[in-house]
Amino acid sequence: AAGPLVLGIESSCDETGVGIVRGRTLLTNTIASSMDEHVRYGGVVPEVASRAHVQAIGPAVAQALAEAQVRIEDLDAIAVTAGPGLSGALLVGVSAAKGLAAATGLPLYGINHLAAHVAVDLVAEDSPGLHTPTIALLVSGGHTEILRIGDIVDDIELLGATIDDAAGEAFDKTARLLGLDYPGGPNISRAAAGALDGTGVPGDPQAVRFPRGLSTAPDLRNPARRHSFSFSGLKTAVLRFVTAHEAGAGDRGIRLADVAASFEEAVVDVLVTKTLFACEDTGIDHVLLGGGVAANTRLRERLTERCAAAGVTLRVPPLRLCTDNGAMVAALGAEIASRSLAPSPFDFGVTSSLE
Ligand code: KG4
Ligand code: ZN
Repeated sequence: AAGPLVLGIESSCDETGVGIVRGRTLLTNTIASSMDEHVRYGGVVPEVASRAHVQAIGPAVAQALAEAQVRIEDLDAIAVTAGPGLSGALLVGVSAAKGLAAATGLPLYGINHLAAHVAVDLVAEDSPGLHTPTIALLVSGGHTEILRIGDIVDDIELLGATIDDAAGEAFDKTARLLGLDYPGGPNISRAAAGALDGTGVPGDPQAVRFPRGLSTAPDLRNPARRHSFSFSGLKTAVLRFVTAHEAGAGDRGIRLADVAASFEEAVVDVLVTKTLFACEDTGIDHVLLGGGVAANTRLRERLTERCAAAGVTLRVPPLRLCTDNGAMVAALGAEIASRSLAPSPFDFGVTSSLE
């Protein structure tokens, strides 16, 4: 297959990812995660992540080149996530990429992590091609955004983001207060399915009406809030609910499955509703879902239903490409390289924030 041969490095959070693509063909996608080291803290610890990246990055690059049977001198470009993300973590990937570029003389592209979550669909085996314009809903442990993508390289607009916890973080923190292990997303889903209390009876998503953040009528009229999210109040509401019910009578028969299903419903409801508002407001009839929370079955179901009802085409890349990885960075790097755009200036830095 034709197209530039690009190595991409991702280190914005806890995954050290190195991917290699040739044009729109994915050759390899090596991922080392420091997740195990964060479990006992109940969330990603930036310094721990940075140290793990330093240890993982060298072997990961070597492994990716070996798996793809590519020599460094065969590459056409190097791409690396420049932000947003944890700055100390980003610095490890950017420094490694600059070293490789300096040693080889290859062009180096600093990549926007959010755009890369969308661009990864270019290298999916079942990729329909990247339809633009599209709305993108990106939901992970580290970020939660709605984007308008007019062009994957030079027309990306942030429509809204979380003003506090990320969606995955809400799952993780709520799981913790429900006594479930980290990462919380999959465990809350299991609890909601009734798989953790031995009954196998699914919880009732309507059992408790937990708050939908930034969703009052005034919020929805406010352009700065209409496509934005807040999950910290939801977490607090769950805490208050379980505390009240534990302190109250055990005879109320509140099931963990009901609480988990109701929490999940509140998160999914607001994600889906606001994504469809974005479609409505922009007149765009395509949605792409990305990030680790795309693994949530209820989210995919509800988004599928609501998109179908609104005549919107939904695309979800394969789940292993939805979580943070190097292939997404390489995919966007290859797209930039194929347009013969200038490399990033060699002194580019990292950006921790969204803009
Ligand atoms: O993209 P990702 O793998 O990593 C980073 O955020 O860096 O996303 C991980 C996040 C975690 O917060 C995890 O709890 C959440 O995605 N997650 C889920 C599910 N699987 C993973 N959240 C809800 N439902 C799931 N099935
Ligand atoms: Zn991400």
